[in-house]
Amino acid sequence: MSEPTTRPVLHTIVCSTRPGRIGSTVGTWANEQAGAHGGFDAQLIELADFALPVFDEPEHPRFGRYQHEHTRRWSASVAGADAFVFVMPEYNYAPTPAWLNAMTYLVREWHYKPAAFVSYGAVSGGMRSVQMAKQILTTFKMVPMLEGVVLPWVAQKVEAGRLNVPADTDAAAGAMLDELLRWAQVLPALRR
Ligand SMILES: Cc1cc2nc3c(=O)[nH]c(=O)nc-3n(C[C@H](O)[C@H](O)[C@H](O)COP(=O)(O)O)c2cc1C
Repeated sequence: MSEPTTRPVLHTIVCSTRPGRIGSTVGTWANEQAGAHGGFDAQLIELADFALPVFDEPEHPRFGRYQHEHTRRWSASVAGADAFVFVMPEYNYAPTPAWLNAMTYLVREWHYKPAAFVSYGAVSGGMRSVQMAKQILTTFKMVPMLEGVVLPWVAQKVEAGRLNVPADTDAAAGAMLDELLRWAQVLPALRR
């Protein structure tokens, strides 16, 4: 098989929309990791920028007949990506409601795309939210990665507005991105 000529587009999506969120700091770090990896066209996406209301499309999203401009914007963004890193905190042992809402808006735009997680929180590092999110991803025909980054006690890792993590966390990000790239290179065949 010939090598792909363009790099897959990777969206690192900050899944907290909370004003003052740590998620933006974590997302900046994760997107920098993706840029340094070199295998992707790495783009940082703030879910908050789409200001999605609680799901308000009249028709099932699988038809793609969107009535609202906010849905069309979100659809165009997701359709333009080949892979995702969800920057995911844990809210009540679960993914953020903003993330589930954003997932719900679309169907085909998610299909046959790989996703990994950089999770964070208190003692769990967001692992419980990720386990729940992975189950949901399969409904969208997405492929969740085993490899991921887990950041417990995340607030203690923020210094001067930057995420400060040990080298083994960078290594975990590298392993996650390597695996994501492998899937991102083969799954386009299923989207044709
Ligand atoms: C509504 C809510 C629920 C939370 N539930 C959990 C939880 O179940 N587990 C956990 O480790 N942290 C929990 N936290 C603490 C978050 O990990 C912490 O506030 C983190 O900064 C949230 O990410 P954000 O700043 O990007 O919104 C919760 C925070 C909020 C606001």
